[in-house]
Amino acid sequence: MKHSIVLNVVDIGNIEDLLFIKRATQLLQKLVSNGAAIGWVDPPSTEEVAGLLRELVISSGNGNAYLIVAWVGPDLAGIGYWRRYNRPTHRPHANIEKVAIDPRYQGHGLGRQLMNQLISSAVNAGVEMLTLDFRGDNERAAKLYKSLGFTEYGRLPRFVAVGTARYDKMFYALDLR
Ligand SMILES: CC(C)(COP(=O)(O)OP(=O)(O)OC[C@H]1O[C@@H](n2cnc3c(N)ncnc32)[C@H](O)[C@@H]1OP(=O)(O)O)[C@@H](O)C(=O)NCCC(=O)NCCS
Repeated sequence: MKHSIVLNVVDIGNIEDLLFIKRATQLLQKLVSNGAAIGWVDPPSTEEVAGLLRELVISSGNGNAYLIVAWVGPDLAGIGYWRRYNRPTHRPHANIEKVAIDPRYQGHGLGRQLMNQLISSAVNAGVEMLTLDFRGDNERAAKLYKSLGFTEYGRLPRFVAVGTARYDKMFYALDLR
């Protein structure tokens, strides 16, 4: 990569930047169109992504979420976030809901950097248990999460539905206590 990587925590200031919303939408749309397993069957609309980002930034303000993006020069190369569980009995814990790296920048250590930042921000926020889930055929993600200390705590066979295809859903956790 010719440019250096800059990791940015997203705040109210940049969430209202329409270019940022557009870039984030393009990144997620591109990944979903390429078949990435990030929770959508069809590419999300700009409105959906904008709504999600706004919600996350508001939650970040009260310590209930953390949203980080990676820039490589002018390109939005990656995005990741965790969110605290809503259920009152689960409040000490958070779930990493998305980690997504632009295909052009995959395999260069960016996913690992984003994950490390998500983990350290969770530690700083006093999160006790960090969970995540992913589609069973996502070996690249599984390898990354295991190497960071996450361990499997469950698997739902043939749970993820993409058209007529069914994939296992994997549940991993990292105990930060
Ligand atoms: C999974 C993903 C986040 C990893 O990010 P990345 O920037 O490509 O990964 P990195 O370069 O930081 O590599 C991290 C680790 O992933 C694994 N990995 C990366 N590329 C790999 C490949 N081609 N094959 C197998 N494992 C690979 C390795 O364990 C690697 O660690 P190492 O470099 O010490 O060997 C990224 O590929 C991605 O966004 N994929 C599409 C969306 C997705 O699947 N998100 C996760 C859903 S939960």
